[in-house]
Amino acid sequence: MRKVEAIFEFTKTMNVDSLSASITELYKNFSGLNAVFSTSFSLEDQVITHLIATHDLKVKIFTLDTGRHFAETYRTLEATRERYALDIQTMFPQSEAVERLMSAKGAYSFYESVAARQECCGIRKVEPLTRALKGADLWLTGIRRVHSIDRENLPHFEIDHTHAVVKFHPLLDWSDATLKAFIDEHNIPYNKLYDKGFLSIGCEPCTRAVEPGGGMRSGRWWWESPDKKECGLHIHR
Ligand code: ADX
Ligand code: SF4
Repeated sequence: MRKVEAIFEFTKTMNVDSLSASITELYKNFSGLNAVFSTSFSLEDQVITHLIATHDLKVKIFTLDTGRHFAETYRTLEATRERYALDIQTMFPQSEAVERLMSAKGAYSFYESVAARQECCGIRKVEPLTRALKGADLWLTGIRRVHSIDRENLPHFEIDHTHAVVKFHPLLDWSDATLKAFIDEHNIPYNKLYDKGFLSIGCEPCTRAVEPGGGMRSGRWWWESPDKKECGLHIHR
């Protein structure tokens, strides 16, 4: 059995109540495990970073810097580095690809069509993600069920065949209230855009605040129909 499949089989026997216990158990059974965590500095990701730092978990942290983030997101990155004294590996897109895209299509091509938007996400997010996941066996994310209908029925662990890695969503069942209470209780640094009506935060030109009662991801790629709202980082079959 391939390692990824063996890890996935093993996860079916695991209790996922505690991130620290899950990671420790996985390392006990797979000594050469390479576990990584992708952070966009969302509330969810800040909780996971806090748990990794405070339990000294052997999980490498990386972020995909698309070059189009809000200033508030960089401030959160900085506050996180200061608070936890952690290395956060920053992945940038390939400069030649960005140069070609911007030279040929300008700075806002993604508003023109879904294909143009996917081209930009492909260059700025998906290709760097593929490099970041090279050699990884386990990939932690901050995905929760309440984000969208697509995410409602996900399992805690799934195999991502594209990147040959087991994905782990430790906060899958967390409610908004639990998340916010944890952030407050531990005084965890967070992106100040959440105080201004943002519910989900990605790139600046593709994210906006949501009116009260609006869907959690309705401020992301708001000009596209809901079934197109994935950037290619997370493909769920
Ligand atoms: S996205 O697919 O719409 O962009 P979303 O913002 O919901 O994703 O975030 C879900 C998870 O994807 C995050 O918890 C994080 O693990 C990962 N992620 C999203 N954007 C980034 C990023 N820029 N850098 C690193 N990880 C990211
Ligand atoms: Fe480009 Fe927008 Fe995708 Fe960011 S979210 S990579 S700016 S299309």
